[in-house]
Amino acid sequence: MPGVIEESPFKTIQVKELHPTFGAEVSGVNFQDLSEDQFNEILAAMAKYGFCVFRNTGLDDTAHVEFSSRFGELDNIRRYLGGGRLPRYALFELFDAGNIDGETDTILPPDSARAHSNRGNGLFHADSSFNPRRASFSLLRACELPPPGNGGNTDFADSRTAFDELPSDLKEELLANDYVGAHSMAHSRKLGSPQFFADVDPRAGSMQRHRLLQKHEPSGRMNLFIGAHLHHIEDADGNEIPGSWDLVKRLNEFATQKKNTTTVEWHNVGDMIIWDNRCVLHRAGGGAFEGKYRRDLRRTTVHDDSPTAWGCNQKDTIWTGFNAQAKAKHAGAVGV
Ligand code: OGA
Ligand code: MN
Repeated sequence: MPGVIEESPFKTIQVKELHPTFGAEVSGVNFQDLSEDQFNEILAAMAKYGFCVFRNTGLDDTAHVEFSSRFGELDNIRRYLGGGRLPRYALFELFDAGNIDGETDTILPPDSARAHSNRGNGLFHADSSFNPRRASFSLLRACELPPPGNGGNTDFADSRTAFDELPSDLKEELLANDYVGAHSMAHSRKLGSPQFFADVDPRAGSMQRHRLLQKHEPSGRMNLFIGAHLHHIEDADGNEIPGSWDLVKRLNEFATQKKNTTTVEWHNVGDMIIWDNRCVLHRAGGGAFEGKYRRDLRRTTVHDDSPTAWGCNQKDTIWTGFNAQAKAKHAGAVGV
């Protein structure tokens, strides 16, 4: 009815939509003393929008980890550490998504192993799809940012809407077949920096398997579970399907076409973005800051607890990380 403003379903938070189909900036959150009601509204906003931006949260490392643990059991970086590299922080729940060398406290040289590994994060992906148990939420917080105008945004792609809008013949093929995606971190590292990782063979390491089509439980919507870690596609019997790589590329390109994506600029230290890896893809945006300005972002990662969390993988599978697969010369190439 014209003139009638639709009432927001949210009572304790304000929501500004960022894109026609997904993404929201959420304000009014009391991070210092978050009530159960307000937390439930954040969960509801996450289910609807797939990612939410929170400005000036005021959270420090400890409060970030505490807040994150309300979403579920947290992953930690112990098993990903390799090549003698030490974590930059006291808290093992924090993943380092920045560009700082922990030993020297200076910007990572662009030709370092870690900088090469980080290039894979510049491709749209779902965190931890290479893990036997996938991730639900990632919570990324800014601790140090490049001066404005130098890039370093985080970009998002709407993989639920991408499923909705697939050409009908392809959608029917996917719905009729119980396709499984085989995911590998070595694969995305190689895609991000093919020459540096030329001698890494993703097929020599283990891959983890998750169904290509999955219902996103919190919203009931279907999702394409794809992204840069997706190495190949198998049929229900475990055989790689003919034309698998073409289909991987086609799905990733379709899901990340411009109209399905949006970008988030980081404004202030303390800004945080939460995304749900079960329904959006994301990437590090790159830009003029690279090799020049410090960008220190820290992330917690929540283990999925939905029925599809473990995909087709055994629950006792232990995945020790990309370092265990990479050659000695690449030790230290820890990625996220
Ligand atoms: C991540 C990631 C993107 C960024 O932390 O998982 O992909 O913009 N980060 O740093
Ligand atoms: Mn990521």
